Amino acid sequence: MIELRGLTKRYRDTTAVDDLTCTFRPGVVTGFLGPNGAGKTTTMLMTLGLQRPTAGSALLGGRRYRDLPVPMREAGALLDARAVHHARSGRNHLLALATSNGLPRRRVDEVLDLVGLTAVAGKAAGTYSLGMSQRLGIAGALLGDPPILLFDEPVNGLDPSGIAWARTLMRGLAAEGRTVVVSSHLMSEMEQTADHLVVIGKGRLIADTSLAEFLASQPAASQTAASQTAAGMVVRAADAGFAETLRGAGATVVAQDDGGLLVGGIDAYGVGKLALASGTVLTELSPRRSSLEEVFMAMTAESVEFSGGAR
Ligand SMILES: Nc1ncnc2c1ncn2[C@@H]1O[C@H](COP(=O)(O)OP(=O)(O)OP(=O)(O)O)[C@@H](O)[C@H]1O
Ligand SMILES: [Mg+2]
Repeated sequence: MIELRGLTKRYRDTTAVDDLTCTFRPGVVTGFLGPNGAGKTTTMLMTLGLQRPTAGSALLGGRRYRDLPVPMREAGALLDARAVHHARSGRNHLLALATSNGLPRRRVDEVLDLVGLTAVAGKAAGTYSLGMSQRLGIAGALLGDPPILLFDEPVNGLDPSGIAWARTLMRGLAAEGRTVVVSSHLMSEMEQTADHLVVIGKGRLIADTSLAEFLASQPAASQTAASQTAAGMVVRAADAGFAETLRGAGATVVAQDDGGLLVGGIDAYGVGKLALASGTVLTELSPRRSSLEEVFMAMTAESVEFSGGAR
């Protein structure tokens, strides 16, 4: 378990992390999300004792990182996959980590096998592709077999089978009862990997909730017709006038290019009753779950600092 209490980091004129209080629990994968510059990496650095908080604390299993007797046995992290000695082989990089942290040498071959790098373990880490470097970073995090794992954008650069492998690995680590925290900008991937979400923007907590609850939430920030129907239904009717019938009954209707109607503010029973009363044949009536990307973008719209201009 990781407990952040009022965690704050101020640089000269930037508040990178602003009074963050939340708990990362064991047994689940927690997606740690936020736009660029939100403070995710800074939070992880403070948790791992690599940055000193301006205020507040980060406790791992009740202790600060620097008070852990053998830190790599308590918490493992992948922060910057490229931060390895380029001339050293993957195996020697891990051996150096193991010996300097009092971990058994045999663990090196175990983790190399786990991340699928055994065949290239003798090659200089500087020659690794980004995906291979990510795997080496994950191997380093797992070296001490720790109950707490922090991964900062671990699937960045992994190919599709690598992404699927990382997802299975993380879910497996959580299923073993470990605390697994993963940051990523790949929303569709997070939707498949995370059980719980902690979302921050401009260093502040925006949401701390289960994935399911987050997906079901209606972002108050942008109550457009589209967002009101975000978690509604897709309705298709043989009669083109059915959209008006729905509107007449107080439903929110957004017509799609493909002829489907995104309908909110009414339940399936209500739509069925209207169809029956108006003698309309429905060819589709299906629930539409909002995607994590949609809800995330609506929730964090006000916290986005770096947005490109439209062309
Ligand atoms: N060493 C530093 N000195 C000054 N400002 C910093 C430093 N490190 C981070 N910042 C600032 O703190 C803020 C948070 O940065 P951080 O790297 O934690 O964000 P992030 O959520 O990890 O973003 P990304 O998704 O782009 O990785 C940013 O405004 C960044 O410019
Ligand atoms: Mg970052």
